[in-house]
Order: sequence, then C-alpha cells, then structure tokens
Amino acid sequence: MEQLKRTANCGALRKQDVGKTVVLNGWVHRKRNHGGIAFINLRDRYGITQVVVGEESPAALSVLTGELRNEYCIAVEGRVRLRPDAMVNAEMPTGEIEVAAENLVILNRSEVLPFPIDEETTAKEELRLKYRYLDLRSGGMQKRIRLRHEVSFAVREWMTGQGFYEIETPTFIKSTPEGARDYLVPSRLYPGKFYALPQSPQLYKQILMVAGFDKYFQIARCYRDEDARGDRQPEFTQIDIEMSFVDREDILTLTEGLLAYVFKQCLNQDLPPRFTRISYETALEQYGTDKPDLRFAMPLQDFGPYVGAGGFQAFKDALAKGEEDKQAAAARGITRAGGGVKALVVPGKASYSRKQIEELEAHAKIYQAKGLAWMKVAGTEAEPVLEGGAAKFFTPQAKAITRGLGANPGDLILMAADSRRKIANIALGAVRSKLGRDLGLLDPGCFAFVWILDFPLFEFNEVEHRWEAAHHMFSYPQDQYHEILEQDPGSVKGDLYDLVLNGYELASGSIRIHDPDLQKRIFRILGLDPQDSEQKFGFLTEAFKFGAPPHGGIAPGLDRLVMLMAGETSIKEVIPFPKNSFAQSPLDDSPGEAAQSQLDELHLSIVRTQDGQQ
Ligand code: AMO
Repeated sequence: MEQLKRTANCGALRKQDVGKTVVLNGWVHRKRNHGGIAFINLRDRYGITQVVVGEESPAALSVLTGELRNEYCIAVEGRVRLRPDAMVNAEMPTGEIEVAAENLVILNRSEVLPFPIDEETTAKEELRLKYRYLDLRSGGMQKRIRLRHEVSFAVREWMTGQGFYEIETPTFIKSTPEGARDYLVPSRLYPGKFYALPQSPQLYKQILMVAGFDKYFQIARCYRDEDARGDRQPEFTQIDIEMSFVDREDILTLTEGLLAYVFKQCLNQDLPPRFTRISYETALEQYGTDKPDLRFAMPLQDFGPYVGAGGFQAFKDALAKGEEDKQAAAARGITRAGGGVKALVVPGKASYSRKQIEELEAHAKIYQAKGLAWMKVAGTEAEPVLEGGAAKFFTPQAKAITRGLGANPGDLILMAADSRRKIANIALGAVRSKLGRDLGLLDPGCFAFVWILDFPLFEFNEVEHRWEAAHHMFSYPQDQYHEILEQDPGSVKGDLYDLVLNGYELASGSIRIHDPDLQKRIFRILGLDPQDSEQKFGFLTEAFKFGAPPHGGIAPGLDRLVMLMAGETSIKEVIPFPKNSFAQSPLDDSPGEAAQSQLDELHLSIVRTQDGQQ
C-alpha cells in the first residue's frame, strides 16, 4: 500500500497556505456529491478540512472516492486553494480553504457504524462504552479529553513552580480508611493474603511528611467499591496534596492559587482571589446540605420564631418533640440539635399550581420530610396578605413573617418541620436544589466555589450505636476541644474542610494528627481497640514516633473538576474509559471470570450458592 505520510493536520490549513501541496491523513467525517464533484470532510483530532475531488483530480480518484464511506481512514494529497466566496464557512477554522485532491489512498475501511460520529452522540450509554473508541472520536469527547490533559498539565506546572514534588505511592497496599469498601488483590506468594488497592494515598502521603518531603503532590488513581452515582466511579483520580509545617489557612490559600491558575490557563476564566467560606453548621442551616450550590441564593430561613403565635399544630408538635428528644439525648451525653421549622421563599412563584407544589412535596418526602407546607404572598408590600395552604394559621402575623423572611407579594413560601432539625433542613435543601434545576438557575458557565469549614470530627451511627469519623480518623480535632474529646464527642469540631463547586464536593482535606497519643485517643473513641488499630495502622503510628512534623493536606477530585469545567453532570464524560453504573466495562467485558489455573495459583476457589450464583 502506498504510504502517504501527512505533512499537515486537518485543523491547520489557512488562507496563507494557499498554493501549497499537502498530505492530510484522517477519517471521512462526511461525504457529499454535487454533480460530478465530491466533497469530503476529512477529520482528525485537530479539526476538519474540506477535500474536493473534482474535474482537476485524476479520473481514477473519482472511482476510488465513490467507494468511500463514513469513518474510512484515508490519506489525501492535494493543493490548498481558496474556496469560492459562496462556499466560505466562517464557523470552521479551516473554512476559507479546501484541498483539491490529486492523490487519495484508502488506509483502512470501516464497517457500518453502530452510531454516527457527531459533535455529541445521542447513542445509549452502553453502546457508547462498548464502542468507546468511536465515541471518543466525537468532537465533544475530543474536547473534553483535551481539557483533561490541559488541567493535569496546569496542575503539574503550578505545583512544581510552588516547590512541590510529584511522588508516586504504591497501588498495592494495606487497606486505607476512606469509608468505602476496598478492592482486594490476592497474593500468589502468600496464600490467603491480599493487597488492597488504595482508596486514596492518605497514609502514604502522611508517611512522606515523616520522610521530610514537606510539599508532596500526586495525580493519583484511587479505587473504591461503592455505589455508583453521576459523580462517582470505582476508579478515579485525585490531585492529592500534603504539606508539612502548615495550618488550615495555608492549605486553603494554596488550593485557591492552584485552581485560579488552572481556570485561567484552561478556560481563561478569572476566579475570585478568595473563595467564600462558611461553616458546616451554616451550610446545613442555610442550604440544607454540606454541598450547597451557590450559583443562586434562596437560603433556608428559620421559621421557628413565628410558630408559637400561629395555630399550626404540626409545627408546634415538631418543635416540642424535638426539645424532648434533645433533653433525653443530653441525659445520655449526646449533643442533639432539637427540632426545626424552616422556610424557603421562592421569588415570583405564587403562580405555582397545587400540582407543582405537590411535586415539590413528593421530592421533600424522599428526604424523609413528613410534608411540605406552603402559603402565597399577595396584597401589597405595605399590606402583605398570606393566602392558601397554611396561610390561615399565620394571617395575623403576615407583616412580621414577610418582613422577616424578605418575602414580597407574588412569592411562594415553602416550609418543612421536623423534630429532627437536620431532616427539616435536608428536605427543604433538596427542594431548594430541585427549584434551582427547575427554574434554570444553574448556569454551567458560572463557577461558585465555597469552602465548608469546621466539620464535626465525629458522627454518631444511630444503627450501630457508636461514633464514626466524619472524614477519616487522622483529622485533627480543633485545639479547644482536646479536653472534652471523650466526654462529648458530638460537639468536637475538626480541622476539616471541603471545597464545594456548584453543588459538588470537589475536594476534601484536613490538618492531621501527628501526636501518637492524641491518635490513640481518637482510635479509642472510634471503638478501635489497641490491637485492632495496631494491626491496621501500626505502621503509621510507628512512623509518628520518629519526629513526625505537623502536617495537613487536601485532595481535589480531578474527574469532578474537569466535569464541572466542561459543564457536564457526569464524570463519565471526562474519563476516557469509565465503568458503567454497574461497575462493568462494556468495552473489554470486565470484570471477567478467571481461569481455573489462575484461581489455583492464587489458592482461591469460587463458592457457588444454591441458586447457581457465584
Ligand atoms: P475524599 O474521600 O473526600 O478525601 O476524596 C477527595 C475527593 O476525591 C473525589 N472522589 C471521587 N471522585 C470520583 N469518584 C469517586 N468514587 C470519588 N470519591 C472521592 C471527590 C472528593 O472530594 N484522603 C482524603 C483527602 C485528604 O484528606 O487529603 C480523601 O480521599 O472530589
């Protein structure tokens, strides 16, 4: 086969190249015939160039061109010429020129495609993943993979400029405590023993601090066996960072600097020099979530002050029961928030029909709300009137309520009450998020970063009746709580921080414990006996005995970052070869069965259950 090696790519040629003879290699994107002339849109990853096979091309070419189908891989030699004025395409970077073909070679034929290669395909996900190599040819995927590369490159460039080393940590390790299930790798040499794939490089990056590498980063693969979600994959990538001799402020500032650089380099977008900061408690109270989307306001407000004077028994009951539970918990040494009645003002939506409000109520119920009360503001600004739903209970307080909540005539007020304040917050927060989507308030071109600070260090597992680490067990309890750690774990705040972008948790981190005694106290509160903690993390606590420096870190998820920068809502759109929602790869059909010989070598046997399942 004649080898025509390319001298230009399909996105490069412009007016100034007119007259040059070039060779292009690429795929037939589209082909049109116009009265003896064929136009081929030839595509590679750089762009599309129009190739013309016309009167001046050798006759044999026309015959060959007749054979071409979409996605044939071809080489074309020809002369660059200006397009006639009427055929200039201002939308294409190469739209002023075309290449008049003088020679054409079919490098490879293509079968009929399972779906057409467009800017964005409408094919089903399973098909896209099975033929990922075709899906990746689409303009949209090509742009996103390029963006991913640019983001990684900018991260490496900036971090290196700040004096960080990129250091690899192993992917066959002992289990890391990030809260998900581990993927295990059986050891052939040690029958019955397993490596775990890292859920993150957490323990190793802390050990690197003990080793004196005080500024570490790594674009690291992580593995977690957890339920699928749009922003989760079983294997994903973190921009993992750890630093010694720092406080929380240093890490927040560093992360802001890194993201400012990445957004400027990759999207030419300026970020604010400092991101908004709110406490975990404020996030829950104002947005009903620790991942608030701040592209729009509509905060949750406290309706509690209006409950007493009103006649709505359900609200009163929620508060009274909440207070009762709070006292009972306090007697058991557990800090509880009590009940809550929260309100959400939806500007201009007094026009919502009963059906629309019922839809919102159904949504609130998914989050355990008992119901969603509502009323509409009518009248005038000077003399507001409450109408519909729960309005009759609050008529005398119309002015105080609308003033207090900042509600105007034409607005809708939604309310949720629960004896557990958190439920009222979370359910109404979910309604707020739904309204954000329904009302088109989520501009993908807007980037609303917010730091969530002062997370509780522990969470109480009501089912198993024990304390759990809210983040992981190496996070530092804020100094003022050290004395009461054991007495009142529920009130302890950690030096933990999350960075949230447009309603997604983008990054998570903390200042770490570097004092072995404090670490042991935390293990004890979490119910890990000394033997257990020694067996699991002894290597870390051992390392801490040798002059461990104070340290802390953070890990932004690379996939989520690129997803948000690309304006997407699924990380699969920015991962070259993702798994489907069932943790399978339709491309290579993994996970697959292992040969009996492999199982034997690993001393593994598969136990089949009675219904024949493995
Ligand atoms: P965390 O577990 O919060 O913290 O993870 C940090 C960030 O990683 C991303 N992420 C994921 N992305 C895609 N799929 C997943 N399954 C997935 N899980 C997490 C998110 C998240 O914010 N070792 C700590 C970090 C530290 O303390 O320094 C850790 O891994 O963007």
